Amino acid sequence: MANILPLEHAFDPALDLLEAGELVALPTETVYGLAADATNGEAVARIFEAKGRPRFNPLIVHVCDMEMAQRIAIFDQASMVLAGGFWPGPLTLVLPLREGHGIHPLVTAGLDTVAIRMPRGFAREIIEELGRPIAAPSANSSGRITATTAKAVDDDLGDSVKLVADGGQTVIGVESTIVKISPDALRILRPGGVTAGEIEAVLGVKVTRGGEAGIEAPGMMLSHYAPDASIRLEAADVRDGEALLAFGPTRIAGANRAVAMLNLSEKGHMREAAANLYSHLQALDRTGAIVIAVETIPEEGLGEAINDRLRRAAAPRDNSQDAR
Ligand code: TXA
Ligand code: MG
Repeated sequence: MANILPLEHAFDPALDLLEAGELVALPTETVYGLAADATNGEAVARIFEAKGRPRFNPLIVHVCDMEMAQRIAIFDQASMVLAGGFWPGPLTLVLPLREGHGIHPLVTAGLDTVAIRMPRGFAREIIEELGRPIAAPSANSSGRITATTAKAVDDDLGDSVKLVADGGQTVIGVESTIVKISPDALRILRPGGVTAGEIEAVLGVKVTRGGEAGIEAPGMMLSHYAPDASIRLEAADVRDGEALLAFGPTRIAGANRAVAMLNLSEKGHMREAAANLYSHLQALDRTGAIVIAVETIPEEGLGEAINDRLRRAAAPRDNSQDAR
């Protein structure tokens, strides 16, 4: 069990722990992060241990302002426009590391690029006071459902983290959008809290999707966000013994037969659905249902990030790869 403290009481102890090279779980606007001083190798190693995360999977560096960001990474014109348009906020930029960046190589898994973002709220204030960037992956065991409440963090990682700063349920509910800019293209490596349409509107260019070779966002393994139950997507009906993850005002056939049902958004609002996604999946999983049937969610706006997570939650789990 971790110590769970409301934000106003968590600030000073969180700062002390981070300064001492310890881990703190804290809310960002997207999801809870498992934070450590990004310049301290031992502290960063604790993140990988606590999550059971493969070391080739790099972490996102969180900063409090552009000055800190530019000491770490090299921004071209397009990245400046994106940072100006969306920071602080749910957008992560993959950029070339600047010489003398000070980030521990464990954070970047030895790559010559760094994934960097400026979060909103408590996380940003802590970084400002600490005066150093923090590395923070989502606060869940590797491969499991992402935590959007302090309790979900504690249930999963309570044995390895001393303090969870409790900011209630996170507002956006899915992780940041990860974007990589190269001279010829702008690619979304992971859909998330900023939609492709919003990015296109700010930059005035079309975005493409996916990595160029292999797993470019190494954490984007096929099986991820996995509940114990198996997931059946785009269900047209509910079968015996299934739980139902619903979306919108109308129900699929047999919905009244579901052993449990939760609706991501009765009105069919994408923002509400994203905010509810992980906690609803966790709650349905806790009912012990063997299968969670999921209604169709349109692939528009935040629906892209929601469907990305659901497809990974539904993917066959290859335990030999231990990509959790
Ligand atoms: O909203 C978020 O982004 C949350 C909050 C806590 O900030 N963080 C988060 O971190 O989702 P994590 O570690 O769960 O996911 C980070 C992703 C991984 O898929 C990782 O492989 C990718 O970012 N990544 C990190 N550095 C990279 C790099 N240099 N190039 C490409 N992908 C990178
Ligand atoms: Mg994660």
